[in-house]
Amino acid sequence: MKKILVTGAVGQIGSELTMTLRKRYGAENVVAAGRKTKPSAELRDSGPFEFIEVTDYDAVNAVVKKYDVGTIYHLAAILSAVGEAKPQLAWKVNVDGVMVMLELSREYGCALMVPSSIGAFGPSTPKDGTPQDTIQRPTSMYGVTKVSGEILCDYYYTKYGVDTRGLRYPGLISHVALPGGGTTDYAVDIYYKALEDKKYECFLSEDTRMDMMYMPDAIDAAIDLMEADPSNLEHRNAFNVTAMNFTPKEIAQSVKKVIPDFEISYKIDPVRQGIADSWPNSMDDSAARKEWGWDPKFGLEKMTEDMLKNLSKKLNINY
Ligand code: SER
Repeated sequence: MKKILVTGAVGQIGSELTMTLRKRYGAENVVAAGRKTKPSAELRDSGPFEFIEVTDYDAVNAVVKKYDVGTIYHLAAILSAVGEAKPQLAWKVNVDGVMVMLELSREYGCALMVPSSIGAFGPSTPKDGTPQDTIQRPTSMYGVTKVSGEILCDYYYTKYGVDTRGLRYPGLISHVALPGGGTTDYAVDIYYKALEDKKYECFLSEDTRMDMMYMPDAIDAAIDLMEADPSNLEHRNAFNVTAMNFTPKEIAQSVKKVIPDFEISYKIDPVRQGIADSWPNSMDDSAARKEWGWDPKFGLEKMTEDMLKNLSKKLNINY
């Protein structure tokens, strides 16, 4: 079989997606690629691993050739808060990197998955039940790069017939690898701090509502979309997908149900608050449900129980 390449394989999504793909298609068929973060022993030893800069066409080309790659999950990206601190870097990685993947996919006939985000929306987008097709004028650099990626993927499909597919992920919550510089990271941090300190100081206000998803659903979404019958796909790129939406106050309440003496306090970071306020409260993901059967399994309470159970093992802290 042609091989699968996962870029950003050491990142929050990549570290779990790579292992799931290796179980599903055979470890030797899934090439993990990272930039410089040390991969876990599991990731490094269970199948092929390569270090590449996703903006380096020649380096990625060499890997695609070496392994006869047929599908690329391109996950390497700069998240929203880092993107505000380093906008030029965000453009380089998030747009130039996508262009490298698109060009190679055109040349070698690869299928290409590029995730987008709730960040692709902005203050003029309808906030509740955000439609699949709507106004997209994001005000963060991260959002500018994500809309650009969506449109570039559409362009390569229409112009060259490249099999591009993509999702607009909400905030992703997981216990294996940390997110790293996003606005929704609070919803991961809170679980670590609940176990470590029984308290958490949140950088967003208590009533900031955003869409969220637990990682097992995010992994299923990526694989289900790539395996979907293309004749059913009307949208192809940038499907809205969500599993739940909540505020810091609501997630804190769900933690308190499991750890009753947990306390949350608030110290607002204006940059991340500004980004969060420009994003939807809740997306309408009916196109994904209809076109490829999107059906998430985790809501807030079930996720909280599972996160705390897994983190308690990982951190060796009982509750
Ligand atoms: N989780 C991302 C961020 O906060 C959004 O896609 O940057």
